[in-house]
Amino acid sequence: MARVRDPNTLSNYDAWRTRHTITNLDVDFAAKRLRGSVILELESQTDRASKEIVLDSSYVDVSAIKVNSTPSAWEIKPRAGPNGSPVHIAVPDGAAKGEVVKLEIELATTEQCTALQWLTPEQTSNKKAPFLFSQCQAIHARSIFPCQDTPDVKSTYEFNIRSPHVVVASGVPVPEATGGDVDGKGKLYKFEQKVPIPSYLFALASGDIASARIGRCSHVATGPNELKASQWELEADMDKFLDAAEKIVFPYQWGEYNVLVLPPSFPYGGMENPIFTFATPTIISGDRQNIDVIAHELAHSWSGNLVTSCSWEHFWLNEGWTVYLERRIVAAIHKNDAYFDFSAMIGWKHLEESIEQFSKDPEYTKLCISHKGIDPDDAFSSVPYEKGFHFIYYLDRLVGRENFDKFIPHYFRKWQNKSLDSYEFKETFLDFFGAPEYAGLRDKLAEIDWEGRFFNTGLPPKPEFNTSLVDVCFQLADKWKQKDYLPSPSDTASFSGNQVLVFLNAVQDFEEPLTTAQSQALGQAYGLTETKNVELKAAYYQVAMKAQDSSVYPGVAELLGQVGRMKFVRPLFRSLDKVAHDLAVETFQKNRDFYHPICRQLVEKDLGLVGKSA
Ligand code: BES
Ligand code: ZN
Repeated sequence: MARVRDPNTLSNYDAWRTRHTITNLDVDFAAKRLRGSVILELESQTDRASKEIVLDSSYVDVSAIKVNSTPSAWEIKPRAGPNGSPVHIAVPDGAAKGEVVKLEIELATTEQCTALQWLTPEQTSNKKAPFLFSQCQAIHARSIFPCQDTPDVKSTYEFNIRSPHVVVASGVPVPEATGGDVDGKGKLYKFEQKVPIPSYLFALASGDIASARIGRCSHVATGPNELKASQWELEADMDKFLDAAEKIVFPYQWGEYNVLVLPPSFPYGGMENPIFTFATPTIISGDRQNIDVIAHELAHSWSGNLVTSCSWEHFWLNEGWTVYLERRIVAAIHKNDAYFDFSAMIGWKHLEESIEQFSKDPEYTKLCISHKGIDPDDAFSSVPYEKGFHFIYYLDRLVGRENFDKFIPHYFRKWQNKSLDSYEFKETFLDFFGAPEYAGLRDKLAEIDWEGRFFNTGLPPKPEFNTSLVDVCFQLADKWKQKDYLPSPSDTASFSGNQVLVFLNAVQDFEEPLTTAQSQALGQAYGLTETKNVELKAAYYQVAMKAQDSSVYPGVAELLGQVGRMKFVRPLFRSLDKVAHDLAVETFQKNRDFYHPICRQLVEKDLGLVGKSA
């Protein structure tokens, strides 16, 4: 059997391809449902060979389907593991190659929808209005509406969303088409996405949202109470990020770049939804120390959103490239390459941790991970990010920065508005450097072990890093190896947030943990017991839990009720579970409804509350 290009879709997208999608959805906060219709315009890829269209769906309530305005036979087949329940729609006469068939699907989302989180007014900061947000990556778009839910298919979009509260979506707002509230169902908000995008980039949010300018083509949108702080956090760097990114790749293609800062249960640091990056409120730390996340999401405007991996098996093409660009952007705005290495060293630590965590599942430590029968959420880790980064960075060093800088725009131009796999990447790279002017590189190119890089488990070769920014962190950590070290606030006074983080990670790695007294002294001297910076607080709690300082356990439990970003929630739960199992389980049960459905599911697995643990 031929290799399946995307094992996470049940759709027959070889025979039909979605070219345009119109979503007409009403936000029903009372029932916690989206209702309405979705119109998919699908182009036939064969000459009448296919008499049915198969779409992905997961827990969606479909009530009617029309094919070219005529009701048609359709059936939702039983669920097939993580891929959901395929919808089979009869197209009795098929369609000539190139002909477009219009499907109109009446639907409502259900309580089991994994893509949406509905917050009650009490769960928001000003408690005035309910809030809704979506998170479709990797395969959750199918739980909002039936679609070809594969990153290998790209479609333009039109969003017509009615809601009693402000709406944002992954399209450019069309204010003139936005209508008043005619029948009490709310105002109509219209958006257009003229750049073809994969289904996982479909996004919307609605709630009491205000916005303020942060750059030449950028606004930040968030709750009215959070607006000023969010604007301050981002306005100094937004245009610098954009300038740096455009210089490395080529001009930004999407018109606007905005950031929506979500309520704290948002499960990721950021999500690169076009026009509106969705971001965790933990980046609004009041010190501009956590906005690398925005450099990262902005970089996805090229890697991921314009040029997309064709399945989750090649996810590294999205994330590895993005981490590489993010680090180039951060180094460029500091005018100091040591920042590139600094961030790479932090990433290396995350990579080691992920590989260690997957010791029983080495498949997940490969750059290209087989996804047959796999839920991409279970395979998610730092591996595609950091191993992907190291592969790109290795190629950069191999051909030399000056040459690699010419390859970057070539690659993104060649593949823009398309999706590709790792082999197509290889071919593009070898073709480009196969040109006569690069004849001198021939031996080096022959050296590249592509298969090994794609499929070896475990750590890749470690490059030499410029350690100038970490040395001070390790020197301070070394001092803490002496049990009688007396700390002073001046120890970390000149450190950036990331430097404190590196220091804390080094302490956390001590073979012999700190004593409880040492851990408490550390927290107090360096202001970590009080910090509002969740990144630092979470790292400090890890050190304290390793030191079995039970005085922090209530604080850990409290933090777990305030943030839902999985990067913090999952490791904190795992550590709390080790030192105070009952408190961990009780904290999870208490905050169940606060967590996003994906986070809830994964923590349940981590704590061994259902099925096998990850
Ligand atoms: N696209 C990801 C988030 C994601 C990946 C969501 C897979 C669902 C499935 C996003 O760009 C990302 O990588 N976010 C990071 C931020 C970071 C590496 C700076 C995060 O959420 O921590
Ligand atoms: Zn990313």
